[in-house]
Amino acid sequence: MSPVAVFAPQLSVSALQARLRTSEGSRGAAEMDALPFEAGARLARGSWSPVAGSRAQVRREEVAGAATTIALAQFRPELLEGVKAIEQLSSVPERSGDAERQLNSVIGRLVVALRDVCGWTLRGDVLGSGFKRGPGGLSNTTLNPNNSRYVGLHLDSWDRLPARERHRGQNRVCLNLGSGPRGLQFVPLTAMEMSLRLDDLGSAVVDRCGGVREGDLARRFLRCFPYEPVLRITTLPGEAYIAPTENVVHDGCTLDTSGPDVTLTIRGHFEPS
Ligand SMILES: [Fe+2]
Repeated sequence: MSPVAVFAPQLSVSALQARLRTSEGSRGAAEMDALPFEAGARLARGSWSPVAGSRAQVRREEVAGAATTIALAQFRPELLEGVKAIEQLSSVPERSGDAERQLNSVIGRLVVALRDVCGWTLRGDVLGSGFKRGPGGLSNTTLNPNNSRYVGLHLDSWDRLPARERHRGQNRVCLNLGSGPRGLQFVPLTAMEMSLRLDDLGSAVVDRCGGVREGDLARRFLRCFPYEPVLRITTLPGEAYIAPTENVVHDGCTLDTSGPDVTLTIRGHFEPS
């Protein structure tokens, strides 16, 4: 049983399973890929298939903890309209100051609403937030601004925690403000579990399969375990996911929409109350 579960009490089990897809594992990025990827990037492999019941790892009622839970939340339309208006304002350079002030206020309202719609609260302060706009139709969405290449499946590292302490890291709310569905692809394992499984392999095997011991935990694990399934969950317009992105390997996916991909991300320590 995977330690990472999906929590969406507003959906029936069958509706939630309909939102989930699984791939056959992961593979290294190649020259022929449609996007320019960093060297060593790992991507979901093969086609996306429906998830059979026992593999869905779905819990609707019970939340194990923020570090191992991906939650879905749906916000009220009137609140979403306000957020979208601020996103539009933020793209006008001379109004960006207004947008920033309004964003701080609307984030406060979103945090309150989150408690009402799915029972999650923010412990401490918001650690960061921002709108992001990108194209639809992409297998992967995270771009490294330093080299303009896509990073593929990865762990976020805002907190710079070692592998076995990543469960203490921040998580994030990512609200889909676009007009189409967007996916969160993820490997349903914690950083702790990946680290333990690499240790179980032993350093000689890790080296042999190209998963050098130093460096990036996500890529090293996926090279050593290429058949570890990658799951994908869909958020519809107006929905947000809350995900432990420091602790669970992930990336965005906009394959199912042609329109611009627009999101608002709020980073902090969100937890089930
Ligand atoms: Fe990320």
